[in-house]
Amino acid sequence: MDLASHQFMSYFEPEQAAHLCQIAVLESFAEETVVFEEGQAADFLYLVLEGEVEFSKRIDNNKYQTVAVAKADDFFGELGVLDGEPRSARAVAAGGSTLAKICSEELIAALQFAKGSSVLQMFSFIIKNLRYTTDRYVSQFVHKQKMVLVGEMVSTIIHDFKSPFTGIKLASEMLKELHPDEETQEWCELIQLQVQRMLGMAEEVLEFSRGSSMLVKKPINLIQTLRKFEKLNRVYFDAAKVDLVLQVAEVIVEADENKILRVLQNLVGNAVEAFGGRGGRVELTVTQTEEWAKIKIYDNGPGIPQAIQDKLFEPFVTYGKRTGTGLGTAIAKSIVDAHKGEITYESEDQKGTTFYIRLPKIAR
Ligand SMILES: Nc1ncnc2c1ncn2[C@@H]1O[C@H](COP(=O)(O)OP(=O)(O)O)[C@@H](O)[C@H]1O
Ligand SMILES: [Mg+2]
Repeated sequence: MDLASHQFMSYFEPEQAAHLCQIAVLESFAEETVVFEEGQAADFLYLVLEGEVEFSKRIDNNKYQTVAVAKADDFFGELGVLDGEPRSARAVAAGGSTLAKICSEELIAALQFAKGSSVLQMFSFIIKNLRYTTDRYVSQFVHKQKMVLVGEMVSTIIHDFKSPFTGIKLASEMLKELHPDEETQEWCELIQLQVQRMLGMAEEVLEFSRGSSMLVKKPINLIQTLRKFEKLNRVYFDAAKVDLVLQVAEVIVEADENKILRVLQNLVGNAVEAFGGRGGRVELTVTQTEEWAKIKIYDNGPGIPQAIQDKLFEPFVTYGKRTGTGLGTAIAKSIVDAHKGEITYESEDQKGTTFYIRLPKIAR
């Protein structure tokens, strides 16, 4: 955009605005260039003309957390210029950005002559930004604390939950064998289905708290992995009236088989839950290119709710379940990411959902 039409200029009388346009220095920043660092002296106000600038605060171990983004027609850096304090966050050009810089002396001089109503307008913009950034920072902080807590506490509790679940599961399998009548079979299947779900949830939380950074990769044949998956879940699928169709080719991939099984478990488990007891069809397809092994997971269920489609892979995002952890897809993604692979999905309301996973055949 043109500097003269930037909203910041509308706060001033035409003459002043023209003067500011004249003394402003235009500067282009390549992608990922630092505009200023946290703690640096604040000597300029920046107007965004093109592109975006991301603000992040340093958290521990030299990691940065994004707290806000400025887009074309926004301005930033005014706080330090006004109160003389160092920069409170780091600013980085995200994508190629063009900024106009106005030095602090010129800005303060211009503000001294600006109309009261214009200054008020500018302050309301600044306050809106501050409020937004603070809210976002606080909610990110709370979210992070929540995850740390989950990691520390739940993993110990869940460990103890697992053995009674396994006991119930075994007992119902015994009952099923001892009493072949239809009614007992049905009730036992129901018990198994529910226990399987609870075990699944326990596994998800444990997996999440462990993190997926430790991979034990070795060459695996996906045909065997998928057959193993089918065998492990046969009872579960039967009880849930789910038709599992495998279309697999011999594809060798260097991967952590247990983690890949976990990905399948989480995604197919979601499909089964989405059928809501009515049953349905799940297709697992494996294909390959020279470089990639590709796994496709299709279900003809109700589709992923629109409300969560943008943030599906984020932790704690769950929808329409009383007992969802919201971790299943987040774990699946973190495992695929740890393999340097990719996971995407397509979903159509009342038609079904397809997850596409690709993994490099040779570990990177
Ligand atoms: N195959 C699917 N069909 C329909 N909805 C799905 C499917 N997979 C995921 N979802 C939706 O995405 C949400 C998040 O899934 P997930 O991350 O596994 O957490 P959880 O299953 O614990 O809720 C689910 O609650 C569900 O609403
Ligand atoms: Mg799930």
